[in-house]
Amino acid sequence: LGVACLALALVVSTVVLAAAPAMATDYEVKMGSDSGLLVFEPANLTVKAGDTVTWTNNKMAPHNVIFDANNMPGDKALADKISHDQLTFAPGESYATTFTADMPAGDYTYFCAPHRGAGMVGKITLEG
Ligand code: CU
Repeated sequence: LGVACLALALVVSTVVLAAAPAMATDYEVKMGSDSGLLVFEPANLTVKAGDTVTWTNNKMAPHNVIFDANNMPGDKALADKISHDQLTFAPGESYATTFTADMPAGDYTYFCAPHRGAGMVGKITLEG
């Protein structure tokens, strides 16, 4: 019985350790609300390093995701790297950005270029 318990404990600890790196969360942001509003939904998200945000075209296309170096921590190179300037037209088209540990914490504000004037803006807060 002692050996069986030991084996079980080993299996359990192995499973727990293996699960640890999978703690990263995937978030989905709709581009255009279900009711046809020119918004990102949700507009505000708080993420941790390792988390991924996927923007999916929903309604009122075309949309894109532009991070502005003036409205986020980090420089223009980082803003360009995490932006997706290619317009999405078809429903379900998507692109993703993973927020990594080497990125500075803070509020990353972004907008949709065609609909910036209509208020289609969003914010990702990367926790430190
Ligand atoms: Cu848009």
